[in-house]
Amino acid sequence: MIWMKTRIHDINVAYEISGDGVPVLWVHGFPLSRDLWRPQVADLADCGRHIVPDLRGFGETDAPAGAYTMEGYAEDLSGLLDALEVRQAVVAGSSMGGYIALSFARLHPDRLLGLILADTRATADSAEAAQTRRDSAAKTLREGTQAVVDGMFPKLLAPATLAQQPGVVQTVRAMLQAASPQGVAGALWGMADRADSTPYLEDITAPTLIIVGAEDAITPPREAQQMAQAIPGSRLVEVAQAGHLSNLEQPDAFNRAVRTFLGKPGLSATS
Ligand code: MLT
Repeated sequence: MIWMKTRIHDINVAYEISGDGVPVLWVHGFPLSRDLWRPQVADLADCGRHIVPDLRGFGETDAPAGAYTMEGYAEDLSGLLDALEVRQAVVAGSSMGGYIALSFARLHPDRLLGLILADTRATADSAEAAQTRRDSAAKTLREGTQAVVDGMFPKLLAPATLAQQPGVVQTVRAMLQAASPQGVAGALWGMADRADSTPYLEDITAPTLIIVGAEDAITPPREAQQMAQAIPGSRLVEVAQAGHLSNLEQPDAFNRAVRTFLGKPGLSATS
């Protein structure tokens, strides 16, 4: 695993790269970091060239002031692929990373080799949910990230994970505690204003895998089912005993689905 930083759109973006084969761009959720994908990068080293960035505002990437739109994030990722001279990639997003992956699919369909949508949704926020995010952003800038982190933590993991997997609980807590107020606020503003991706789902032609934790309380299985119905030829995998972070909670089941997907004949690297 090589750790690097590169300058994209006036910020320093941290990323890791490892493995060989189909380029896979792993896009973490909110308010996490590239550490989310450790079990995938470790177990799937033989079936992909894994490109794992910290998004704008998170991990070791810069956190400039202002809103981070889903389109802006998609352009950061496109810039990262340019910097790495990768023409096309499978884009895999968890939750907010899925919102970004759907923006990427709309803005750069020619760069999309495949799509993995994990524990996410296509729909936009309701007016009420968007206002709650804006209020949380203001509170975060005033008081720090603790309130957002405390509010989110109990919803992220399935009850069995909370009770029986202290290592996963620790990993998630560490990511949450490392989040910066500016990064959290920027992403909250961006998510509050994000577009509804539902109308574009039928236009996705890249092979698509949708994964959801059966106990996901933030983006429940019905959201995944709706995306699966709308995206032509997509495959849906529901992971038992997993909540919103199914890739961390049940990595064996998650990675099995990804391994099968990456082995599909249509998914071959072009650069
Ligand atoms: C995430 O995990 O990225 C967030 O829960 C997404 C959201 O708040 O909508």
